[in-house]
Amino acid sequence: MCGIIGYNGYQDPKGILLDGLKRLEYRGYDSAGIAILEGDKTEVFRAEGRIQQLETKLTRHQFKGHLGIGHTRWATHGAPTENNAHPHQAGPITLVHNGIIENYLGHKLILEKSHVSFSSDTDTEVLAHLFDRELKSGLSLKDSTLKILPLLKGSYAFAVINENEPGTLVGVSNGAPLIVGIGENETFLASDVQAILHRTNRVIYLEEGQIAVCKSNHVELFSQEGESLKANIKTLHWTADQMEKAGYRHYMLKEIHEQSQAIANTISGCIDPNSGTIQIPQIEKIKDTLKSISRISIVACGTARHAGLVGKYYLERFAKISTDVDFGSEFRYRQPVLDKNSLTILISQSGETADTLAALRESKSQGVSTLSICNVRESSLARESDLVLYTNAGPEIGVASTKAFTTQLTMLYMLAVQLGEIRGIISNESAKELTTDLMHLPHLVDNSLRLEGKIEEIAQTLQDTPFFFYMGRDNLYPIALEGALKLKEISYAHAEGYPAGELKHGPIALIDRQAAVIVLAPLNNSPKSKISLKGFEDNILFEKILSNLQQVKARGGQVITIGTEGDGLFPKESKYFIGLPKTSWALNPILSTIPLQVLAYHIASLRGTDVDKPRNLAKSVTVE
Ligand code: AGP
Repeated sequence: MCGIIGYNGYQDPKGILLDGLKRLEYRGYDSAGIAILEGDKTEVFRAEGRIQQLETKLTRHQFKGHLGIGHTRWATHGAPTENNAHPHQAGPITLVHNGIIENYLGHKLILEKSHVSFSSDTDTEVLAHLFDRELKSGLSLKDSTLKILPLLKGSYAFAVINENEPGTLVGVSNGAPLIVGIGENETFLASDVQAILHRTNRVIYLEEGQIAVCKSNHVELFSQEGESLKANIKTLHWTADQMEKAGYRHYMLKEIHEQSQAIANTISGCIDPNSGTIQIPQIEKIKDTLKSISRISIVACGTARHAGLVGKYYLERFAKISTDVDFGSEFRYRQPVLDKNSLTILISQSGETADTLAALRESKSQGVSTLSICNVRESSLARESDLVLYTNAGPEIGVASTKAFTTQLTMLYMLAVQLGEIRGIISNESAKELTTDLMHLPHLVDNSLRLEGKIEEIAQTLQDTPFFFYMGRDNLYPIALEGALKLKEISYAHAEGYPAGELKHGPIALIDRQAAVIVLAPLNNSPKSKISLKGFEDNILFEKILSNLQQVKARGGQVITIGTEGDGLFPKESKYFIGLPKTSWALNPILSTIPLQVLAYHIASLRGTDVDKPRNLAKSVTVE
């Protein structure tokens, strides 16, 4: 997830752009750059690494211009080099971009056929050349934008300036966030309101497909069809605490919405841009040792253990390593039999959970190697483990774990794929495919969060429901457990998660008209699964989860299905249907978690519980 900043006003843009980028640095920090229109030329400055490097480059530069854009990058296409850093230029056009233009290669080939040459590997530079082509045909920046948007596929936001239109800054949001700030004789663009809120509290949150044409003293809004829109200007009166929560009512909701960035930041640095495959640096270093691992024990507590349960599916599917998952509170007491070819993986957000630490020490006492997946640097778990893989989720304040969980799953996915390739279980080609799938995940999470309004409406109808039953199959069964835990720990409602196939062995006795049943039934976008008029073909699990759903419905349960947009079958079978973007078998657990977190949050909010500090709970259980 990259960070975009833009300025059009009466001040020297340099300080405004750099300060804004520093406030956006959590969105990505592979490289950064700014561009400022100085006279009739746009001056561009870019640097690899953190914003500090860019700031050093600009120390002696002052500008007379008043129009500029800036960008801090999380690399998706092209290595994190200065050459691939934004802004990108083409003729009089200078542009910064967040997101993915999925069909950029087709456009690149067409442009190359008309003798356009490229200096970077990025989709962003292709976009800049598309603008240059339209300007050459005599269109303005705004009209070029209207001409280009229908040509693009993907989810993105961008800011663009044209040397020949010195008073105009254009911003577009289409699947990635972009906010307009309206000051006194100055306007701003930013990926996140935190980058500009200290300069103006009057903002417009651009909606899907909207175009903002920012002049220094006013902003015009257009739809993709060119229709002029009335700007919905919000005036934010945020206290310091709300700034901390970035305007969200609770830390938990803020952290739910931070997940695409948290996942992106966890992936960052673990992809080899040359091979296009997953390369967690620490794993690469000990790959020979890892080849001899014959068995893995995953030990964790609560939500972290649910991540471990999904990790089992990943490790056994991609790396063919037999994997067990234990409760931290049980592991040492069952006197586990470990051997020198075992590896114990500990998963913990805090790195201070007593039972998980005890499992680490039990493993070390048996001479077993330990690898931890942890979110807190220098925590006890991190210090005592042989190897630590950090989830760069950032501080998680809400007691209910959200972004820690999805980044744990992200790390387990990367670990399993890399181990699979190291051990020769998956081909380099498959590893590349699995890596590409992963690179799209942050945007899919962002898109899934756009369903929050619909999920909130469902929460309103369920707020007084006495009993919730979550069910899923295969690698979604652990997500059923996690969905139930999320709800019960913050709303105090009774909720159970179960493998759907177990229903008939007892739990179905619980189902009556009072019960709300959440069914996890997303489509795997593997070639053999395709949506047709009949519904899902060639995917036996869907027929089975469908019959589980019908068993519940027959007993009066209210069915809420978390499925895939475009599904022709489950919506008809469900009282409510949440259609997520299509993704892969392996990434379905991560994406399916998002609506369950949002549902739990809104039911708890409606019930008036203390969402961030639920009764009886602590963020880290440091005692037995
Ligand atoms: C998750 O929502 C809970 N707060 C709890 O289950 C938590 O996951 C568990 O206590 C483990 O904490 P850790 O990840 O810090 O070890």
